[in-house]
Amino acid sequence: MAPVRPFARTAQIDSVSLCDRIQLISRSGTTRLAYSEEDVRARAVVMEIMRNVGLNVSIDAAGNIVGRRAGREKRPPLAFGSHVDTVRNGGLYDGILGVMAAVECVATLEKICYTTAHPIELIVFANEEGQRFGALCGSRALVGSLKADELARVDENGRTLADAIRDIGGDAAQLSGAVRRSGDLAAFVELHIEQGGTLEKAEVPIGIVEGISGISYTDVRVTGAANHSGTTSMELRKDALVAAAELVLCVQTAALEKRCHVATVGQLVVSPNATNIVPGEVGFTIEIRDLDREKILASAKQIRECGEQIAFRSSVEIEFSDRTLIESVPCSPVVRDAIIRSCTDLGLKFQTLPSGAGHDAQMMAQLGPTGMIFVPSVGGISHSPREFTTSEDCARGTQVLLETILRLDDTLSNPAESQ
Ligand code: HGY
Ligand code: MN
Ligand code: MN
Repeated sequence: MAPVRPFARTAQIDSVSLCDRIQLISRSGTTRLAYSEEDVRARAVVMEIMRNVGLNVSIDAAGNIVGRRAGREKRPPLAFGSHVDTVRNGGLYDGILGVMAAVECVATLEKICYTTAHPIELIVFANEEGQRFGALCGSRALVGSLKADELARVDENGRTLADAIRDIGGDAAQLSGAVRRSGDLAAFVELHIEQGGTLEKAEVPIGIVEGISGISYTDVRVTGAANHSGTTSMELRKDALVAAAELVLCVQTAALEKRCHVATVGQLVVSPNATNIVPGEVGFTIEIRDLDREKILASAKQIRECGEQIAFRSSVEIEFSDRTLIESVPCSPVVRDAIIRSCTDLGLKFQTLPSGAGHDAQMMAQLGPTGMIFVPSVGGISHSPREFTTSEDCARGTQVLLETILRLDDTLSNPAESQ
């Protein structure tokens, strides 16, 4: 018989176990590109850890790892989790903290022999970072927005996304079986490092996310004419890299003029990419982010217009192809209220803030009420080996996560009682 609800309120997470598990994964380094051998190894360790806390672990057709814990009643599950893949040369906490915090919450419920009314699901999403094949692959597949044509996309090794999904235990041919519908989750909560400096500057340990930024990705190909750098006069050149450089400056100008949160070109692929050859072709992706989709679209439009002028002036071709626009989402007031009450119960200062980073939570919002808890990033640094969050802040965030899940379990199963 489960103890009465108040008892569970005093469930103390074990910060030493939490930090040990984070360190265990980080031994595999901070470059764990999705679908790579490093990713597969880390996922195997995570699944073992999930089994050790009593979760029933499986991998869905999209390669998402799902750990299930039965509830007392037949209800849609309460879900939490994050990702274990990283960017190149990433950090120790991005994604990993949310996964290990959820593991520690489950371990604590086991320790106090408490069974929630709702079943619990711990989801480790595949390919959140999109260093290959586009971002949020696993969570987009869960909401049915991973397009069939994406499965045929190839990475730098000529491997398709379908191959990559199979490499991590999924089956792209069965993706439709992994799709969930609105209402399939009672709620979803993700704990994540802030990846910015707001909380640290304000000396506040907990951030409650108001909304998660939308993100547009536009692939650009600039085609000029490769030629000998010593014998091709400046007037006769069709230099693709000079044109691309002008366009990258337009990206920055458009973001500033349209007051977009951010716009970035983080990678250039130049060919033939040799000192003594005038660049013939340049490929890159423009990433624009804002909570307001109209600002994203206005910036993208200005960039295209700028591109047309550059193409005409430089006698090069510039092709733009838009990828899926990942919509911004407001976080659920129900979940935000549960986080606020949890912080209050725990005597923790908090503040609300937007998320400039994208997260799997913005897909989970299509399945049920969704919210995010942030903890401070030291120096506001992320996507870097210098990424750091103190063990005290990791523990505080985990305790708030557990308290929030227990509170949601109460309010969503006893709406009348818990006002
Ligand atoms: O790029 C992002 O916003 C996240 O870190 N995937
Ligand atoms: Mn992340
Ligand atoms: Mn990230």
